[in-house]
Amino acid sequence: MPRTVAVVGAGAAGLVAARELLREGLAVAVFEKSGRAGGTWAYDPRADADPLSRDPGAPGAVHGSLYASLRTNLPRELMGFSDFPMAGRVFAGDARAFPGHREVLAFLDAFAEGFGVAARIRLRAEVLRVAPLARGQWAVAWRRGEEGGGEVVEEAFDAVVVCNGHWTVPMVPKIRGIDSWRGKQIHSHNYRTPEPFRHQNVVVLGFGASGIDIALEISHVAKQVHIATRYMEDRLGKIELYENVWIHAEVDCIQDDGNVCFAEGSVVAADIILYCTGYHYYFPFLNLDGFTVDENRVGPLYKHVFPPKYAPNLSFVGLPSKTIIFKSLELESKWVAAVLSGRVTLPSEEDMMTTVREHYQQMEEEGRPKRHTHVQLFEWVEHMNWLADQVGEPPLEAQTCELFAKALTSVLSLDETYRDRWEQEDDNSTNVP
Ligand SMILES: Cc1cc2nc3c(=O)[nH]c(=O)nc-3n(C[C@H](O)[C@H](O)[C@H](O)COP(=O)(O)OP(=O)(O)OC[C@H]3O[C@@H](n4cnc5c(N)ncnc54)[C@H](O)[C@@H]3O)c2cc1C
Ligand SMILES: *[C@@H]1O[C@H](CO)[C@@H](O)[C@H](O)[C@H]1NC(C)=O
Repeated sequence: MPRTVAVVGAGAAGLVAARELLREGLAVAVFEKSGRAGGTWAYDPRADADPLSRDPGAPGAVHGSLYASLRTNLPRELMGFSDFPMAGRVFAGDARAFPGHREVLAFLDAFAEGFGVAARIRLRAEVLRVAPLARGQWAVAWRRGEEGGGEVVEEAFDAVVVCNGHWTVPMVPKIRGIDSWRGKQIHSHNYRTPEPFRHQNVVVLGFGASGIDIALEISHVAKQVHIATRYMEDRLGKIELYENVWIHAEVDCIQDDGNVCFAEGSVVAADIILYCTGYHYYFPFLNLDGFTVDENRVGPLYKHVFPPKYAPNLSFVGLPSKTIIFKSLELESKWVAAVLSGRVTLPSEEDMMTTVREHYQQMEEEGRPKRHTHVQLFEWVEHMNWLADQVGEPPLEAQTCELFAKALTSVLSLDETYRDRWEQEDDNSTNVP
């Protein structure tokens, strides 16, 4: 009898994990709490009632963090799966190099249909608890029906792959003096359209890909946009292409008079603080001895995937960030599937723990904070090539690496048109014989 595997979540990670598990001959059930597959890419126009989403367990909490205008920040060449590219094909009428979110969702739908994954998905099935059973199996307790209500069912599986996403629970840093703040506060998780920012003075905290996108989008309707970031100290002041956007160092405090003061000394009066400060990993259905989320370090995890104590029957796909996400999801999935089918073996629990400790030690020596444990900004090539090697795939192609490096720097150009210029530049280069 084939081994049974439960996959938690039908986002990009769950879908590609299911494909790889099916390819290895395993029996797969994908649990998805919402009414459709696609995860993050299923744009949800709703936002949480609390603009800071302080209670992740609140009934009806919104999963998605996309805004209405969102286009990918990676070109479609970097968002396909093997045997199912996104480049050179159109799924929802949006052929742009950096398509809007509907195109990615249609791509994922077609992928799920094309590989027989769609038929394995149980919709409106929220996993409430995942726990080890005595015989080496795992109990999965899940609830039928959206937003509670339905009956709770418990089933046993040989293995569980966790793919529940990690862009839902906001991280909101506590600003010194925030008690004196009299304006509004909102986290980017709840940002959908620029309209609420019309004629407002806005402070945007944090400057990742979505912080940059959102700051520039609201600049078209807002009075002023003040970006606070610790990563652009060489670019302080008004930015070139925009009349009403300034870059500051970090926010230092909220003064007694309610104004915002920045580390470099400037002070502004603002109406709204918009936090683009990232998200917490959150696994409410897991309560495992010796397994924790500590300052956004999920662990211990061998290579971000297997908790040594529970390997190989429990695994995680999709934790790394600042990497070529879909490629990374696929390589992790192939590794998990190959290990579960017995084609590839893992080191001993002790050896995996040693590797984890070495990683933590190395981070400490390099002065990298715990919360960056799964941030791949400096190790994505090495890490993905390591995974590829485990499953007998060739290393990343040079062209793929160049495209990703170019995409990372393009975001920092602080010019919204980079996505469309890329297309033109691309066209020019392909016209050269
Ligand atoms: C604003 C924004 C922009 C992005 N832009 C890009 C981009 O341009 N390119 C790119 O490659 N990536 C981008 N990403 C990253 C994106 O998250 C990944 O592309 C991808 O969606 C990750 O898939 P996932 O399956 O890990 O998580 P998700 O897409 O979040 O899917 C998780 C799924 O699990 C389900 N789930 C959660 N808990 C349970 C439970 N207990 N029981 C059952 N089901 C559950 C959820 O409903 C959801 O469907 C972006 C992310 C954000 C937030
Ligand atoms: C993993 O699952 C298999 C099949 O159910 C089981 O035989 C094995 O003991 C499990 N491994 C561990 C370490 O629990």
